[in-house]
Amino acid sequence: MHEIIHAVPSEWAASAHVDINTYQDMYRRSVEDPDGFWREQAARLDWIKPFTKVKNTSFAPGNIDIRWFEDGTLNVAANCLDRHLATRGDKVAILWEGDDPSESRSITYRELHAEVCRFANVLKALGVSKGDRVTIYLPMIPEAAMAMLACARIGAIHSIVFGGFSPDSLAGRIGDCRSTLVITADEGLRGGKKVPLKHNTDSALTKTIGDEKVLVIRRTGGEVAMHAGRDFWYHEMAATVSDACPPEEMSAEDPLFILYTSGSTGRPKGVLHTTGGYLLHAAMTHELVFDLKENDIFWCTADVGWVTGHSYIVYGPLANGATSLMFEGVPNYPTNARFWQVIDKHKVTIFYTAPTAIRALMQAGDGPVKSTSRASLRLLGSVGEPINPEAWEWYYRVVGDNRCPIVDTWWQTETGGHLITPMPGATPLKPGSASWPFFGVQPAIVDAEGQIMEGACEGNLVILDAWPGMMRTVYGDHERFEQTYFSAYKNMYFTGDGCRRDADGYYWITGRVDDVINVSGHRMGTAEVESALVAHSGVSEAAVVGYPHDIKGQGIYAYVTLMAGVAPSDALRKELAGWVRKEIGPIATPDLIQFAPGLPKTRSGKIMRRILRKIAEDEFGALGDISTLADPAVVEDLIANRQNRK
Ligand code: WT7
Repeated sequence: MHEIIHAVPSEWAASAHVDINTYQDMYRRSVEDPDGFWREQAARLDWIKPFTKVKNTSFAPGNIDIRWFEDGTLNVAANCLDRHLATRGDKVAILWEGDDPSESRSITYRELHAEVCRFANVLKALGVSKGDRVTIYLPMIPEAAMAMLACARIGAIHSIVFGGFSPDSLAGRIGDCRSTLVITADEGLRGGKKVPLKHNTDSALTKTIGDEKVLVIRRTGGEVAMHAGRDFWYHEMAATVSDACPPEEMSAEDPLFILYTSGSTGRPKGVLHTTGGYLLHAAMTHELVFDLKENDIFWCTADVGWVTGHSYIVYGPLANGATSLMFEGVPNYPTNARFWQVIDKHKVTIFYTAPTAIRALMQAGDGPVKSTSRASLRLLGSVGEPINPEAWEWYYRVVGDNRCPIVDTWWQTETGGHLITPMPGATPLKPGSASWPFFGVQPAIVDAEGQIMEGACEGNLVILDAWPGMMRTVYGDHERFEQTYFSAYKNMYFTGDGCRRDADGYYWITGRVDDVINVSGHRMGTAEVESALVAHSGVSEAAVVGYPHDIKGQGIYAYVTLMAGVAPSDALRKELAGWVRKEIGPIATPDLIQFAPGLPKTRSGKIMRRILRKIAEDEFGALGDISTLADPAVVEDLIANRQNRK
């Protein structure tokens, strides 16, 4: 097969922070002398007390312990704000584009600094102090970034819950980390529709311990109930506090935030990131992978409810003193040209989005793109799931007019920032490959027995040693941290992803190999959807798998066995889809539901998901050995009634 390679344009090689020689030299040094390398790189941050120790990490069984710069102190908000005031006080920090195209705001570093200090004083007035957990359930408004930075300023640990999650999901996350404060808004606004955030918060708080306070930001002005003594308006409190608030001195290993993410089993895990290593990794990748220059307008289309928003809307860009565009809306509102119009309106130079959005907009044709200029663009990025070569080529040719390199960045909530990614001045691009490891990252591919394979090969992706931005633990459950990431292969971090490496050393992520599915770039545990389904009174058993979906990447396919006496019907199918949507949130809504009188189980009662995946993929000719099934006949029924027919 002929493989397309886009060479590094000579202007890029000449002007980028990192060219191929720099990449090779720096990479070699980063793995041969991690202490020396990271000691130097850590000078990107302003330290209150300089560290003397650099790396102190262990992947050893029974002793997973990750520490970077452990005796140094710093403050994240001071690094993102205060240190820019002298040179960039009047530079725009956050460029906000509302859901409605007539609404936008620009907030300079000086203004953001003052507002974050005010916000921090409001948190203090509500009794929040260092180490306390604060849940943030906000729409994409500047106050979301202010809330994060205000927490960081006083040393509180934020836990953001995406605004699309249900009251139950919100309650679970508030309870798991015992947040004492929830920051929300009256309503959110997305694609012209209102999202009842305060109302959802009220419902969530009927299911928690009940000692939480609520800080409410006014966004739409919609009518909301305020509970005296529990609920407080931000604008009222902000008017009573000063805009001076000294940053708290934090240890490099003090927690910065918790972010819940789905795994193959159980409830979502609270991924914990700390202060120094995380900020360094976010800032450094943001500068080098996007080749950031002083006048760039950087736009990452993610929501701050996901890690991409944490690292590449807020912490990375602001640590670098960049202008970060924050978008409240959706790609297809009011029209399919919205992204491209926003790029022209704000002269965006670097644009970072997800393959699912690219595929959806590609289906709308070239017209909406070509109705705009996009002349300001110089670099494109992709994140969240494997990008298929057709979508890559369209993004390159139509959106970027064959001018802009694409960085396909592979990483995870757990990794804090990019781990495998091209750098535009250094890496010849192969569409669909995340290419080479970032500095300090040592990927390897292992076979089923955990043996490391060399050269061109395919297997499971592991990382052999620690990097500064990696998660430190699962909040409140260090054993689960070890079990989830370090038990499959001893002394290695297991990513959960399958991967191929070609003869040129390029890594090609092939997708999850565990029971996690990737729906529109969002992670969903099949076990979570199953437990929501079986919570319905008509359902006796459920098994959920992913299947290929043209736009979402993967869709959610649910096999459902009903209780005796409950009749299958289209109405029930709809009801179950709505039920899951209400239990978890819209992103978990099953795309296809198949009623199955029985599920394929081994004689010991284990569901054979391999068979269910094949049938969901409409690949039932290749089921493999089914002789170990307790009742092979169920397979015939599953095939006959399959819901995905290509
Ligand atoms: C999973 C992590 C990274 C932030 C957004 C998602 C998949 C992510 C890529 C990519 C192929 C990718 C992996 C990974 N993934 N980026 N460029 N190419 N796959 O974070 O929710 O923690 O999901 O997303 O499967 O394990 P997340």
